[in-house]
Amino acid sequence: MTRGQLGVCYFPEHWDRADWPADIAEMRELGIDFVRMGEFAWGVIEPESGVLNLDWMQDILDLLHENGIKAVLCTPTATPPKWLVDTMPDMIATGRDGQPRSFGSRRHYSFAHQGYRRECARITRLVAGRFGTHPAVIGWQTDNEYGCHDTTISYGAADLAAFRDWLAQRYQSADALNRSWGNVFWSMQYRSFDEVELPNLTVTEANPAHWMDYRRFASRMVAEFNQLQVEILRELSPGRDIIHNFMGRILDFDHFELGAQLDVSSWDSYPLGFLDQMRDLFGRDHRLAFARAGNPDFQAFHHDLYRATSGGRWWIMEQQPGPVNWAPNNIAPRDGMIALWALEAFAHGAEAVAYFRWRQLPFAQEQMHAGLLRPDRSRAEGFVEAQKVAEILRDVDWPATSKGDVALVFDYESCWAWATQPQGENFDYFRLHLEIYKGLRQLGLSVDILSPDQACTRLEDYDLVFAPGLFSCSAELSAALAATNTRVILGPRTASKTADFRIPADMPPDLPDAIRPARIGRVESLAEGLTVPVGGDAGALLVWREFAEATGGSEIIMQTADGHPALLRRGHIDYLCGWPDERLLESLIRAACETAGIITRPLPSGVRLRRAGNKAFVINYSDTAFDVATLGPDTSLLHGEAVLAPSGFALVQFGGAA
Ligand code: GAL
Repeated sequence: MTRGQLGVCYFPEHWDRADWPADIAEMRELGIDFVRMGEFAWGVIEPESGVLNLDWMQDILDLLHENGIKAVLCTPTATPPKWLVDTMPDMIATGRDGQPRSFGSRRHYSFAHQGYRRECARITRLVAGRFGTHPAVIGWQTDNEYGCHDTTISYGAADLAAFRDWLAQRYQSADALNRSWGNVFWSMQYRSFDEVELPNLTVTEANPAHWMDYRRFASRMVAEFNQLQVEILRELSPGRDIIHNFMGRILDFDHFELGAQLDVSSWDSYPLGFLDQMRDLFGRDHRLAFARAGNPDFQAFHHDLYRATSGGRWWIMEQQPGPVNWAPNNIAPRDGMIALWALEAFAHGAEAVAYFRWRQLPFAQEQMHAGLLRPDRSRAEGFVEAQKVAEILRDVDWPATSKGDVALVFDYESCWAWATQPQGENFDYFRLHLEIYKGLRQLGLSVDILSPDQACTRLEDYDLVFAPGLFSCSAELSAALAATNTRVILGPRTASKTADFRIPADMPPDLPDAIRPARIGRVESLAEGLTVPVGGDAGALLVWREFAEATGGSEIIMQTADGHPALLRRGHIDYLCGWPDERLLESLIRAACETAGIITRPLPSGVRLRRAGNKAFVINYSDTAFDVATLGPDTSLLHGEAVLAPSGFALVQFGGAA
């Protein structure tokens, strides 16, 4: 794909066939390049075991093709039909409370169930065998939103059996497992792998090493499940992109591992739903201030995260089109936001954005969810805004998103570790990253996200890298940290455990002596409202603080008011001894950027930039106008208004010619 492509999620099976030609004509009028179809259609495709009904899909694909619209087809494995579930009821996922989840919505399967995997392989073969080389088909989406509705981890008999096998392979003997987990504590020793139980129903907390392995196992099951479909699709649909649609803030499987199996990562972006739903991240005042726009960093964070998961190619597979139906409150977007969200994704390098969904459905669970058309076929606000996006894509010479100014290392194992052992009710690894990401973006910086593995080879690409809260540090990453000249800011909690969830023998951070900046003997988590001021009025630590002893001659750059190091520096490594509040974070980033020679451009709350070489996209989430000239005297406007209205979008250039 060259210019950004615009798509829409289409469910022809929900409508009368007589509506299809009008749908397609209107899609063409809007400027739709492709539709995504079929992700929940198993019950239509195979209404009874072995009874196939695929002709409707042939017909709609032919019709799309005749009209120059492409298709991304899906494997329908997120909605196993009733007849299938009845043939093997133990394929149903089991909740943390030990109760089987019921049929009657979606995602009601266990990733580890071998029988269900065989059924998924069978239906994938049937659909891809029939349509894999259809000229309209440009790609495949596997399943739908792995992990959504808390479905990554299941606690049933099939999961337990697969977990025991996984442990047997990992540890080879029960003794080795007992030693690694430390099962001498509370007499938890197992005599064989067959005795291992699941960690969910213990009286008080289960061993964190047990949880950690269960989370690793659950993540692996998702990757195995996906890989099976990927192999079949590659065989039967050569040359087409294989894609999965990730969700926002789903943290319980490793998206880097899964992304490596795909050609393109995509995700489903529902800015207003996320803002109203994620109350642990967004306080009341913030929710009200951005109620109709969404949090200014949440979407971009995921754009940058998922871009990193499949080597740079990424899409939005579902874009919020208006009010949704699943958040506590389902607010209507401010005029312009439905377009701006898509433009922002393109600014972060998306190849394609598809709106969810074409036409609002008058029945079933999502009848209150907007579409681009209303149920009566009249055009909704989303239609008009999507059309505006199509026009801008046609008219604007769109520069390619370039490497960010700084990098942030994000690690799924660390999400699992700190969810298992937060040690304080407010320690949330994802939130720490989102706050640092926001702090960087408020200073006008563009951020790239790296996995720990990517960081092993790419630290040199950046002048400044943040790697907070890494659960453990591999030998390769330690070596890369020792070898680089890049300024890397570690802490809090970086390398504070070994991979088998122990406190390191010489205390954290578990780094080679040659670069280790500190020795952390004691930590505390801070109750809400309890803060540790940092000297010189620089701000404070909150949520988490570490009592650090400088090692290897490291310098104390900042100190807490009660006389402990707040920031230590040894050569190119900085160690931050706690969770910084907004002010401390800002002064830290400003100072680090100044030393590294990175230009900052402070922005008002709600205005954000994404760089593309010496150009930048300017995005206004706020409800006040923004004068683009305030970005600096070197700014010239290439597209958009010089005074950017709320929901406005501009393209600017800094300095001379590109
Ligand atoms: C997504 C899902 C879609 C639809 C949408 C509603 O999470 O993939 O199928 O349910 O939410 O906003």
